[in-house]
Amino acid sequence: MRDKIKHKLKELQDESLYREMPSMSEGSGKYVCVDGEQYLNLASNNYLGLSEIHEIREASADAVMKLGTTSGASRIVTGNYSIYDELERRTAVFKKTEKALVFNSGYAANLAIFSSLADRHTAVFSDRLNHASIIDGITLSGAKHVRYKHNDMADLRELLEKHKDVKDKIIATDTVFSMDGDVCRLHNIVSLAEEYNALTVIDEAHAAGIFGRGRGYAHELGLEKRVDVHMGTFSKAFASFGAYVAGDTDIIDYLRNKGRSFIYSTSLPPAVTAASLASLNYVIKNSDIGGRLMDSADGLRHSLNRMGFDTAMSVSQIIPVIMRKNERVLLAKEFLMAKGLYVAAIRPPTVPADTARLRISLRLDVLDETDRIVSAFEELKKSGI
Ligand SMILES: Cc1ncc(COP(=O)(O)O)c(C=O)c1O
Repeated sequence: MRDKIKHKLKELQDESLYREMPSMSEGSGKYVCVDGEQYLNLASNNYLGLSEIHEIREASADAVMKLGTTSGASRIVTGNYSIYDELERRTAVFKKTEKALVFNSGYAANLAIFSSLADRHTAVFSDRLNHASIIDGITLSGAKHVRYKHNDMADLRELLEKHKDVKDKIIATDTVFSMDGDVCRLHNIVSLAEEYNALTVIDEAHAAGIFGRGRGYAHELGLEKRVDVHMGTFSKAFASFGAYVAGDTDIIDYLRNKGRSFIYSTSLPPAVTAASLASLNYVIKNSDIGGRLMDSADGLRHSLNRMGFDTAMSVSQIIPVIMRKNERVLLAKEFLMAKGLYVAAIRPPTVPADTARLRISLRLDVLDETDRIVSAFEELKKSGI
């Protein structure tokens, strides 16, 4: 067994796929500090920079002082407290659903959704680029996993037709795809779901807080009532941690009763729950900030395309710059670091082979440095990397 582990590690190193964690003294703010050097942060999911907002920090600190550092148990035992209920009430109103339930992470939420709603009699139709937590949730459920080509509605229809006799069907999609920054075809998906009598589950991890005046992509399109299960995270634009699932009463009550990652895990500590609540309130009050970020992302994408960079189908604050080869993306990352920018280098298996990319996560608090970002990419282009 140990020889096998050594061999696998060596293989990862040989293929430039070995992962290590950068040593950072700060990672979520406008600047990251790596080995004592400061870089503009274009790699974190703190898209709106809300971790810096005083009232959100203060709400979190107050909760620690009032309620302590831990929740002490799962929600079902003693780990429930009033700000938790308030967060769920506020989330349900914000999402315009009957109820909402908070989970310990987006990963845990997706495990609970699929492993409790689906079983071996279910077929789950899932976009090929859906997040790993959706894939793991489906695997755990024992359902038939039917993967359709990314955003290919003809393929989805064909697969629904092929499995039309399966009684229980779910269509699952990210709304904003995390490594491509493109969006799902939600109009077509809800129409197909209605035609084939399938439940729809959407993962709004990268849309929540930004699209639809913060409510999400389904709301941006006015489709929220036609989606059954809305999942989103507090860990990205909301600058906190944890996730929500919003939907009708039966779905939420069912997840509370059957979601093992919900039931058998200590609930989030008060500092986190209070930060999520304060952040949600902040987005409700400042509902135009997501739109502002999107406009700036359009401008940056336009500049990158003019230079000849391939930003794939991105239409969001996530802008991939396709470099293809693993070695090339690592060189590009180092080049940009020398110019003071910290941009993530994403390689397989996170993305398909031969599509290694830089992934720019644009954020509201770096917009005053757009010129610097553009000129660093101009120099990257000239470098011939
Ligand atoms: C689309 C998507 N869903 C779910 C998750 C998991 O969320 P969390 O980081 O809160 O576990 C992520 C995070 O990377 C994601 O990108």
